Amino acid sequence: MSTATHEGVVVASQDHPRPVVARTRAELADARRALDGGDVAVVMTMGALHEGHAALIRRAREHARFVLVTVFLNPLQFAAGEDLSRYPRTFDSDLAICAREGVDVVFAPTPDVVYPEGDPGVRVGAGPLGEILEGRSRPGHFDGVLTVVGKMLHLSRAHVALFGQKDAQQLLMIRRMVADLDFGVEVVAVPTVREPDGLALSSRNVYLAPSDREAALSLSAALRAGADAAVEGPSAVRRAARAVLVAEPLVLVDYLVLVHPQTLLDVPEWYRGEALLAVAARVGTTRLIDNVPLRLGPGGGPLDSSTVEVPS
Ligand code: PAJ
Repeated sequence: MSTATHEGVVVASQDHPRPVVARTRAELADARRALDGGDVAVVMTMGALHEGHAALIRRAREHARFVLVTVFLNPLQFAAGEDLSRYPRTFDSDLAICAREGVDVVFAPTPDVVYPEGDPGVRVGAGPLGEILEGRSRPGHFDGVLTVVGKMLHLSRAHVALFGQKDAQQLLMIRRMVADLDFGVEVVAVPTVREPDGLALSSRNVYLAPSDREAALSLSAALRAGADAAVEGPSAVRRAARAVLVAEPLVLVDYLVLVHPQTLLDVPEWYRGEALLAVAARVGTTRLIDNVPLRLGPGGGPLDSSTVEVPS
């Protein structure tokens, strides 16, 4: 991809017109006004874009005439001691990916643009769903996510917003916020994009040393093993998944759960139908999450759309 940087300005090649980059609210308002002739789809990111983000962008183009990508490392959703300071920042290559995918506008503000008064006193409360699973390990995380997603929905005036199945609890919470607070935007879920060996793409994968990466494969392997046992019911799924994880000593499991996709509560043994098998674990210094939607009972297994490989 022929993208060059000249004095901080990234110039995309002619076959991929350069997206308009907005850094301030005024620049965003101008850029957004120029899109008033058609529907706008927003893809929100924290940067360090990879093929998972690219899949969201491509799907966005199927849903709206214009695509707006936000690149904002949101401090509000990181607790003290989390990886905010070492989170990868790769804006030039992010912009190149946006150009390659034909994005119209990239909104890349700094925290003082998004939070001009400092940390907001009023935030969106994620409620009880925000206190389990990821929320238990990361208190306040989903309040921070929903607050910034709400702000970006307002600022972008998007008609459609796309989020990855990779962050299943985040997706669910955003769906709840949009419904409960009448945001009037369509939320579209995009299946998890994986490496050919099963590892779910994540901006955090760059932290993984080669031995960590090998160990991290046991997360997706456990999910696959669990999903393959779906015909037999919940305890068989949990047993099969756990067996894979306990065989990998370098993986410190935070949780491995088989839950109802709407309530995120453990499904009882008699339950049949759609469920979510989700895992969070620490591998080396890195906390990884992954999940697979599946159907329990006769004809059960992973739900088809749950996994997409990186296109080669
Ligand atoms: P980030 O981790 O950058 O992810 C941005 C979007 O890409 C999310 O919707 C996420 O689910 C999706 N995504 C990440 N990896 C994916 C993969 N392997 N396959 C498919 N989709 C994937 O999630 C966030 O940022 C933030 O919390 C955000 C929503 C931007 C709010 O700050």
